[in-house]
Amino acid sequence: MLDEFTQKRIEMDKIEISNKIRNRYSPRAYTKQTLTEEQILKLFEAARWASSAFNGQPWRFIYATREMTDSWDKLFDSLIDFNKQWVINAPLLVAGLAKTFDENKNAPIRNAGYQLGLAVGNIVIQAGEMGLHMRQMTGFNADKLRENFSIHGNIEPVVMFAVGYEGNQDGFDERTKVPTGDKRIRKPLSEIIYNGDWQKIL
Ligand SMILES: Cc1cc2nc3c(=O)[nH]c(=O)nc-3n(C[C@H](O)[C@H](O)[C@H](O)COP(=O)(O)O)c2cc1C
Repeated sequence: MLDEFTQKRIEMDKIEISNKIRNRYSPRAYTKQTLTEEQILKLFEAARWASSAFNGQPWRFIYATREMTDSWDKLFDSLIDFNKQWVINAPLLVAGLAKTFDENKNAPIRNAGYQLGLAVGNIVIQAGEMGLHMRQMTGFNADKLRENFSIHGNIEPVVMFAVGYEGNQDGFDERTKVPTGDKRIRKPLSEIIYNGDWQKIL
């Protein structure tokens, strides 16, 4: 007998959505296969076309391939140790930064992180389309990243992500292995949406 949570999850999983969304996931295991400059530019081109408030596009990215050793080390050094252990194999490492002040309006951009997230969401979809995978990380030290790249002013390091071809996670310890297939779980819709009323749960 399945518990109620699992039962609900299975029911929800039957709702058809784009396979690109359903099948996307974030591995920690990457092969050492490098990415071409063209592939990397495509990812950022996808980010460029995200929507943003007043078309302000407050996202910025710093990237390094493993061959760009100085820049790679500066990004890598900012990660927490847990993330370092698996990122070491990934061919591309990126920091996503949000511009938090609009000089023209002389006003803060309060939702710059949200807008950066939309741009990163586009990269996720584009990466999937190109047979690539990525894993986003907030497990990094933003102050260290600022220091390593001399980032000053109203720029907020928000997220980092690794991109590459999926590798084999067999040698990983249980904490590092990620769930795949049926083992991937989500909250049921009933826990996250409210049908026109905050109190009335769908
Ligand atoms: C904002 C954000 C921060 C994350 N931080 C980390 C991280 O520091 N380390 C890590 O291994 N995974 C991190 N993840 C990956 C999530 O754990 C992963 O997306 C989640 O478990 C759902 O799995 P899925 O992406 O495979 O569906 C992060 C994801 C997001 C969106």
